[in-house]
Amino acid sequence: MIKDTETVKVPVAPLSDIPENGTRKFVLHGKSVLVARTPAGVFAIENRCSHALQALEGGKLRGFHIFCPAHGVRFDMRDGSAMGRLTKLPIIVWDVEIIDDVIYIGMGVE
Ligand code: FES
Repeated sequence: MIKDTETVKVPVAPLSDIPENGTRKFVLHGKSVLVARTPAGVFAIENRCSHALQALEGGKLRGFHIFCPAHGVRFDMRDGSAMGRLTKLPIIVWDVEIIDDVIYIGMGVE
């Protein structure tokens, strides 16, 4: 049976808890979420590469892209699309909102 999901704003952390041009991993509603803080914006992505399911944590950031540390596939953190020969499967991305310096992520919860 498919259940309806509702999108809720999940508070994650103060913006200052994420290093500039860096990432931090969170577990939210059972999902491993990587929050990236870059000059191009703050992004929340699935912390799992769509190629061989390795963690994206530790991947190099460039603009709104992250490079998988395992084999180098590049993902656009705005829409999750993959660039490279190894996979075309996108990763999940979540909407980010910053309210009073706190990061919120819009997640579907059952
Ligand atoms: S596991 Fe990410 S590119 Fe292979």
